[in-house]
Amino acid sequence: MNNILKVENLTKKFKKKNFFSSDSEEVIAADSVNFSVEQGKILAIAGQSGSGKSTIAKLILRAIKPDSGKIFYKQKEIKDNSDELKKFRMKCQMVYQDPYDSINPRMTVLDIVNEPLEIHNLGTKKERKQKVIETLQMVKLEPAEEISKKHPHMLSGGQRQRVVIARAIVVQPEIIIADEPVSMLDVSIRAEILELMKEIQNKNNISMIYITHDLATAKHFADDILILNSGKVVESGSIKQILSNPTDSYTKALISAISEPDPNNLYKEKKISV
Ligand SMILES: Nc1ncnc2c1ncn2[C@@H]1O[C@H](COP(=O)(O)OP(=O)(O)O)[C@@H](O)[C@H]1O
Ligand SMILES: [Mg+2]
Repeated sequence: MNNILKVENLTKKFKKKNFFSSDSEEVIAADSVNFSVEQGKILAIAGQSGSGKSTIAKLILRAIKPDSGKIFYKQKEIKDNSDELKKFRMKCQMVYQDPYDSINPRMTVLDIVNEPLEIHNLGTKKERKQKVIETLQMVKLEPAEEISKKHPHMLSGGQRQRVVIARAIVVQPEIIIADEPVSMLDVSIRAEILELMKEIQNKNNISMIYITHDLATAKHFADDILILNSGKVVESGSIKQILSNPTDSYTKALISAISEPDPNNLYKEKKISV
């Protein structure tokens, strides 16, 4: 198999201060984590809150430094301050959980989606605007011209998350890390946002890490899955295999916690083939 991203023995500890004393407690947020993402596939990273999912995303993007471990993009190690890291930061984009947190409320949609193009110095001003409009159409924010002039507060939650997705895909990334991309959204629109992400992923052969605490959506969205518990990978493999035949008791507990809303029904209604 051809992996596009690989992490080896990724470890990160945090010191947590105790509010009532001078003691600090150590938390192992990532404990010798190993996995790879296959080209064009979706890997789900699942685990309950605090299991270390976001820490892994931040480590991959070098938003925080690992205590130890290595990250490889197309078999090349990504080191600090390297040309590879610069290239990787364009090729690997993030979609965050909370569209309010991840977009600047004072900017227009045009400026928000244009920002990565400017940062990476791509195209002329006119070409960039054209690219932004095309990208807004790709995420089905139409009429794109009109929406591009709006500010985030004038949009619905689902539309804002489409803006976040547009900003991630405008630089034509090869990898997208989506950290609980629908968990802040209204239940009724989660399926359509996931459907859009899957469609974009599929059309453009993007590889993806889908971070979630919700195995029900992972089941319909991902090819492979990795289950995290207290920073440790407790199980990994193809999604069908793991969810139909879990061996770890934590995975079993997560599966039995699959509850409402049943995305099976949402998917069936919209006739999404998965
Ligand atoms: N900057 C930080 N400082 C101290 N502890 C942190 C920090 N970031 C995360 N943690 C701790 O690391 C663990 C994993 O957190 P996180 O990766 O955010 O989990 P998840 O995304 O699965 O909810 C938690 O115990 C969390 O409190
Ligand atoms: Mg998180």
